[in-house]
Amino acid sequence: MYKKPLILAIESSCDDTAAAVINGRKILSNCVANQKIHIAYGGVVPELASRAHQSKIIPVVQQALQQANINKKELTAIAYTQGPGLLGSLLVGSAFAKSLSLALNIPLIPINHIQGHLLVHFIEDERIQIPSFPFLGVILSGGHTQLVDVRDHFNMNILGTTLDDAIGEAFDKCGKRMGLPYPSGPQIDKLAEKGNPHKFIFPISKLSNYNVSYSGVKTAFINFISNSEQKNPDFIKNNLVDLCASLQYTLVRIILNKIELVARDKSLTEIVIGGGVAANTEIRKQLQDMVMKEDWKLSLPPLEYTTDNAAMIGITAYYKILKKEYGSLKDSSNARLKFN
Ligand code: KG4
Ligand code: ZN
Repeated sequence: MYKKPLILAIESSCDDTAAAVINGRKILSNCVANQKIHIAYGGVVPELASRAHQSKIIPVVQQALQQANINKKELTAIAYTQGPGLLGSLLVGSAFAKSLSLALNIPLIPINHIQGHLLVHFIEDERIQIPSFPFLGVILSGGHTQLVDVRDHFNMNILGTTLDDAIGEAFDKCGKRMGLPYPSGPQIDKLAEKGNPHKFIFPISKLSNYNVSYSGVKTAFINFISNSEQKNPDFIKNNLVDLCASLQYTLVRIILNKIELVARDKSLTEIVIGGGVAANTEIRKQLQDMVMKEDWKLSLPPLEYTTDNAAMIGITAYYKILKKEYGSLKDSSNARLKFN
């Protein structure tokens, strides 16, 4: 018998089909099925993503219930990602969650994916030290790059955002130009270990406010490769690790400059990172160096809570339950869902 809420959480906003079971703030299972089908296309194909969610969602939910050793009749609520994300992908998760909530006669909780990325820091886990409000939330993912003033679990204000590409998108698109498979962020991270980050210099965008831009560096990188290949067709092969290290250095520097500026200006010196790119070795190291030098505080999520997962949807739902905020069958998925 469980005293705290026992929630089944579903995440299907992009190309990962994920399900988790959470009891209170404790994760009982956290299962993800990656969709390998997109590798052949060098990026996510929305139509293929929704079809893959449809075939994977039932096995992933079954796996999550099994690993948690839970019978679905014991569940007290069902949470799902309402947005932002790809509409066709979101619809699969919401239709599944709605049907199951109807069948089991338990409440539904729609969740904002971005809030989920930040609230993983509230999961009960010995590796996680719960941050204290207010803090500077930084979302670094394939779809978003945002600096957020977090006053409370659901009182969040965006201070800065990318004006064009997200940081993960820049990693992936530049990686694609180098012939690396999608998503290339993790591969660039690995290859960069052996490279010289100062071998090639790429532009670091300097916007006067708290926003960032990644399209300039992406275009400069792609043009540089094309020009270099005209002189030497083996340019990428001969310089791969240095290209990865120099690109990674630049992409990381752009966001680090902004984090430092916002933290200082807004006196938000507790920094909490979320999203897939939070797995990047260089950004983790640079952030640790920065907070050590400034005597600030840093929370980095354990790796399994960086890229898209359903545990983040579950923990956010737990705080919604504490506020008695439930959804209904009428809620519609929203590809551009905002939280403020
Ligand atoms: O949060 P996430 O799983 O999905 C979105 O909500 O977008 O983030 C996926 C992004 C991809 O762009 C992927 O290349 C990037 O996170 N990523 C990384 C690393 N691991 C994942 N980027 C750089 N270094 C990594 N180690
Ligand atoms: Zn995400």
